[in-house]
Amino acid sequence: MHDFYFAGNQLCCEGVALAPLARKFGTPLYVYSQHTLTDHFQKLDRALAPVDHRICYAVKANANLSVLRVLANAGSGFDIVSAGELRRVLAAGGDPQQCVFAGVGKTEKEIEFALRQSVYSFHVESEPELLRINRVAARLKKLAPVAVRVNPNVAAKTHAKITTGTYENKFGIAVEQVAGVYARAAKLKNLRLRGVQMHIGSQITDAAPFALAVQKLLPLVQRLKAMYALEYFSLGGGLGIVYDPMLASGQASWWQTAASKNLMTPASYAARLLPLVQPLGLKILVEPGRFICGNAGALLTRVEFVKRTGKKNFVIVDAAMNDLIRPAFYDAHHEIVPLVKKGGAKLKSDVVGPICESGDYFCKDRPLPKVGAGDCLALLSAGAYGFVMASNYNARPLAAEILVNGRKYAVARTRQPVEEIWAGEQVVAWLKEPCAHS
Ligand code: LLP
Repeated sequence: MHDFYFAGNQLCCEGVALAPLARKFGTPLYVYSQHTLTDHFQKLDRALAPVDHRICYAVKANANLSVLRVLANAGSGFDIVSAGELRRVLAAGGDPQQCVFAGVGKTEKEIEFALRQSVYSFHVESEPELLRINRVAARLKKLAPVAVRVNPNVAAKTHAKITTGTYENKFGIAVEQVAGVYARAAKLKNLRLRGVQMHIGSQITDAAPFALAVQKLLPLVQRLKAMYALEYFSLGGGLGIVYDPMLASGQASWWQTAASKNLMTPASYAARLLPLVQPLGLKILVEPGRFICGNAGALLTRVEFVKRTGKKNFVIVDAAMNDLIRPAFYDAHHEIVPLVKKGGAKLKSDVVGPICESGDYFCKDRPLPKVGAGDCLALLSAGAYGFVMASNYNARPLAAEILVNGRKYAVARTRQPVEEIWAGEQVVAWLKEPCAHS
C-alpha cells in the first residue's frame, strides 16, 4: 500500500493533508509514513516466513531515529556501515545484537566499538580486514563473529553507480578465493565463522540476478556450512521499488503498479529464491534499505518563481540537489505532484532548485500541471537516500523531517538552524591579528 494519495484535490499522507503541513513547518520538508514503513517490512517478513530469517534494515537508506524506532518496534535488525550508524541504532532503542556491520573500510576504533556492543556479525570484505578484526578481538579478549562477503560476479542490471556484485567493483572477495579465505580465517583464534554474505547492488527490479548469484554460490555455501558449522546466509539488500508515476496514472497502490509492470515484489522475490536456499538449512538474512523506506517518504517543496526562457518552462523551487541528490547523481526519476491538484492542460517543465549548478534539477521537460509561485509540490518516493545524502552545499540548512501515523504527525527532526552549519568553524587566530602589510 502506498500511503500518499489524493483525497479530493488534497495530497495526503495517511490521514494527514500535506498542504497545511507544508504551511505549518515550512519547506523543504521530508514527510514519512509510519504505515508504509511497517507495511513494507511486514510484506517482506511474511514472504520470507517459510524460512528461518531476519530482516536487517539498511540504516544508510534513512537513518532518522524515529524511522529506526518504527522498524525496531516491527522486529527488524539493522545493517550498519559505520560506528555512527551503530550509535544511531542505540540512540533509537534498537538492539546491537541484531546488527550486522558491513563496509569495505572499517577502522580499528569502529571494530572495537562494535565488538563491545556485541553485534551479531561483521560482514568482511577483505583478508586484511579479517586480520584486523582478529587483532582487535584478541586485544579485547573476545570472539568476533564474521561472515565473508562473496562477490559473485553477476551484473545486477541496475545503474552503474549502484552495481556492487561484479569484479569491476571494490566490494567483497572473488568467489574463487573464498574457500581459501575461510580456511585461513578458521586458524585465527579470535574469529568465529558465523555465515556467508552477498550483496549485488541496489534498485534491482527483477529476481533473476539474485537467483543467478545465489545459484552460483550454493555449492560453496553448502561446503562452507559443512566445514565450519555456519549459522546463516545473507542475501544482501537491493530490492527495487517503483519510482514511475503512480498517482498521476491513477494507480493507487505500489503492488498494483509493480504487478502491472511485471516488477519484482516480495512474493515473487521469495518465490524465486526460497526454493534455492531452503535446502541449505541456514538462517537467511536480508538487508534491504530502499524497499522498506523508499516509498514511505516525500519531499515537499514550494515554488518560488516560474521562469520561461526561449525554450523552456523552469519551475524554480525551494528544495535543491543538496536536499535530494538522486536526480543529479543517478538521473533518478521521482514523481512530482502538486499538493493541491490542478486541472487544465499540462506544460512541459523543468523543476529546478536555486543552487548554482546546471545539475540542480528534479526533472527535465516533464509534462506537469501549470503551477505558480507559492504552490507546493511533492517529490514522491524520496524516503530512501534522500535526507541521508543531504548536504549543506550553498550554506543551505538541512530540511526538517515529519513522521505521520494515521491522523497524527510529529517532528522527527527539526530544521537545522543556519548558524549550526558553521558552528564547528572558526576564523583562525592569526587572521584576527592586525594586518601587518609588508
Ligand atoms: N547492503 C549493502 C552491503 C549495501 O551496500 C546496500 C546499499 C544495502 C545493503 C541496501 O541496499 P538497498 O536495499 O537500499 O538497495 N544512494 C543510492 C543507493 C546506494 C546503495 C548503497 N548500498 C541511491 O540513491 O540509489
